[in-house]
Amino acid sequence: MGRFGYGKVTRGVRGKISAVTTANTRAAIPTAGRVNRFTYAIRNIVAEAQRVEAAGTRVRYLNIGDPVAFGFKTPLHLVAAVERALRDGHNGYGPSAGIAPAREAVAAEYTSKGFPVSADRVFITAGTSEGIELTLSASVDSGGEVLVPLPTYPLYTAVLAKLDARAKYYRLDPARGWMPDLDHLKSLVTPATRALVIIDPNNPTGAVYPTPVRRALLDFADEHGLLVLADEVYGDLGFDGAVEPYGLLDPDAAIISFSSLSKAYLAPGWRTGWMAIGRSSRLDDVVGAVKKLADGRLCSTVPMEYAVMAALQGDRSHQVAFRDALRARATVTVDRLRAIPGISCVAPTAAFYAMPRVQLPPGKTDEDYVLSLLRATGVLCVYGSGFGLAPEDGFLRIVFLAPPEELAEIYDLMAAFTAGYVSG
Ligand SMILES: Cc1ncc(COP(=O)(O)O)c(C=O)c1O
Repeated sequence: MGRFGYGKVTRGVRGKISAVTTANTRAAIPTAGRVNRFTYAIRNIVAEAQRVEAAGTRVRYLNIGDPVAFGFKTPLHLVAAVERALRDGHNGYGPSAGIAPAREAVAAEYTSKGFPVSADRVFITAGTSEGIELTLSASVDSGGEVLVPLPTYPLYTAVLAKLDARAKYYRLDPARGWMPDLDHLKSLVTPATRALVIIDPNNPTGAVYPTPVRRALLDFADEHGLLVLADEVYGDLGFDGAVEPYGLLDPDAAIISFSSLSKAYLAPGWRTGWMAIGRSSRLDDVVGAVKKLADGRLCSTVPMEYAVMAALQGDRSHQVAFRDALRARATVTVDRLRAIPGISCVAPTAAFYAMPRVQLPPGKTDEDYVLSLLRATGVLCVYGSGFGLAPEDGFLRIVFLAPPEELAEIYDLMAAFTAGYVSG
């Protein structure tokens, strides 16, 4: 067998492969090495949950942040807008940056919140996720470094793995309500650093950063000439109301904001979101590079783009009800988890995630706790190491979108299981 897996290779005068006599058609098709650096624990653990389910245990899926899966309904005026678009024949390709009225609606939304954005610097994307991937692809070369929070939402690490770039993790500190450790952040900058990722409100911690912390992050990025990726997909889901966009603090910062219809507009399956690029001329080349890459994927889902205007210009009363529901579920979550011996939990102030910590017995990992809990009770959470934390630290993420009565049942199951687990 030759080095390339061929049966017999003959070489021409310059050593080039010139003929292949017999191909090995039985060998497994090789996969790319980058896949080994790509993990997505939130979905990876579902295979084990399905095994548990097949064995007859009811599984409570607290792993994915999808409000629709827990009975929250997409607002009907958004559904009507998409339905109308489908019937009106908006089923062809659209402009790669998105339809003009959707881009204008996004620009107007940010501008009204104090972050002046022009429509020609808005892109409509397949969720926040695609905007982030387009931006990192447009701005970070192979070998480039990006400052990413730890714990992180795993999309960032996954995209950077695809780009052969490196995530450098800056710590969020559970002892200080999961605030970024600014000294640690500063210590990570190298000549290869290109960008700073800020997730605020945060997944997986549920934290919202106060204004001085936000300013410090922007000042730090400015000092080092870094692009700021502000992941604001939970911006409308602060328990006390919508959280201001980062761009309001410094409209001239090199900042790009990302959001979508997935969370605050209850339509994650539509894969529709946007990115808004700040007015700084330092970002002009990034606008051009993102445009090129966006051209390459033709356009995002056109009928759903019609829901962007309905969302941003129409009735938002569902958000008031949703925030109330989230606050009530967060209260049950924190009260009940803190009552379990061996578990501590920072109270979230936005979104639908909590990141409790279990006092692990020596030698155990967060994954072992999560899988044991799943097999014993059917409760499925995500282990903290899936978000980059040390496995022995014992963190896990809970999605608390289930109704409060069901959450109470779930926390009863966790309490009974944890009592036995932590005592070894
Ligand atoms: C912090 C964060 N960013 C991005 C996303 C992806 O969202 P979208 O559905 O808009 O792609 C999520 C989804 O959970 C998230 O939590």
